[in-house]
Amino acid sequence: MTLDLTREDRNMLEGGYDPGVAMAMSIITRMAEVSGAACLIDISAAHIDSALFMGDATLEFAERLVELGAKVRVPTSLNVSGLDEAGWREWPVPEAYAEKALRQMAAYQRMGCTPTWTCAPYQTEFRPQFGQQIAWGESNAIAFVNSVVGARTERYPDLLDICAAITGRVPAIGLHLLENRRGQILLRLEHVPRSMQDSSIFYPVLGTIMGRAAGERVPVVDGLDITPNEDQLKALGAAAASAGGVALYHLVGLTPEAPSLQAVFQGLLPEEEVKINEDLLVTTYRGLSSASGNRLDMVAVGCPHFSLAEFQQLVSIIKGKRRHPDVQFLVTTNRFMVGKAWEAGYLDALHEFGARVSLDACILTSPMLPPEIQVILTNSGKYTYYTPGLLNRQVFLGSLEECVDSAVEGRLVREDSVWNR
Ligand code: F3S
Repeated sequence: MTLDLTREDRNMLEGGYDPGVAMAMSIITRMAEVSGAACLIDISAAHIDSALFMGDATLEFAERLVELGAKVRVPTSLNVSGLDEAGWREWPVPEAYAEKALRQMAAYQRMGCTPTWTCAPYQTEFRPQFGQQIAWGESNAIAFVNSVVGARTERYPDLLDICAAITGRVPAIGLHLLENRRGQILLRLEHVPRSMQDSSIFYPVLGTIMGRAAGERVPVVDGLDITPNEDQLKALGAAAASAGGVALYHLVGLTPEAPSLQAVFQGLLPEEEVKINEDLLVTTYRGLSSASGNRLDMVAVGCPHFSLAEFQQLVSIIKGKRRHPDVQFLVTTNRFMVGKAWEAGYLDALHEFGARVSLDACILTSPMLPPEIQVILTNSGKYTYYTPGLLNRQVFLGSLEECVDSAVEGRLVREDSVWNR
């Protein structure tokens, strides 16, 4: 298919603006040709993952764009950074790494991006609206904004995301188009007790099942008896995007593009149907913990970044408790949300409990973990999925209550619940 460019597209491509714009446009048009797009469309916002230092090439790319005068054309937020700008010296982050990570962070800000430094931009002022065409990076953010908000983004990989922000144009493909947003695979909950659906651990586990079954297809879940809160949907999408490549999911009767089964499949039949029962959920949950025994070195929560509601929930659970000196307790969030938590008076309670709050990064994106931390308990399906392979550490998956109780006892503590029988 021939790519049809507008006069303004050609102007950007042929040097009508700074050379940085031409460079970004040449990458966008090449990607459009490779993906078979007929044309480009406007976006009105972007979220950039490329500001994370991933090696010299990512830094060179950013600094080259700055040298060439590139500036973003649309409101643009930034995903997690390579380090906590204010607190990285409290962790064993190598100086040489920090110097480059900070340069890369500065380059994106010089291009006009807003230093939100969060993988949960949908819980900030940068949350888009239903139907808005946007270009977002970061898999959990893409899943949330497509599914829960109903904005439209493809999966933007590093480097392409900033080119979209600089040009304000993207190929008209994939999830930007209504016909590609229909459900493809149906997941039916069968006799799953309401108590199970109510538990927070249900969402990373269901997300894992969704991701494994759907791969990169669009899953539709039918049969939920409760209305999950926003943080549960965040956990669901993050796990589905990690265990598979889910960029959009629908929950029948709950998410904005799924008023009914017929509507969500756009009148077509699902390609496949999968039944989800209590046994599959419990088996999947057990398989997500790679660690064994009850030794524990750290509890890590805040993946995706902790919200104000999650701070509130944690503070209510830790009341009157103190963590064991042998187990660290880490909360990862961003500067915006920690400001809100401070205003709400939550940080003193966390301090008294013995928790640490790290800003703008996370244990997977920053080389911050000391070597003695080998076994981690988390409530995050995404941390559970990536930590063994990327950090060579072992993990347990558990509820937030189990995270707190285990940190207090200094060893893994399980609740007496349907998940652990
Ligand atoms: Fe965010 Fe890091 Fe998790 S980027 S989604 S806290 S792995």
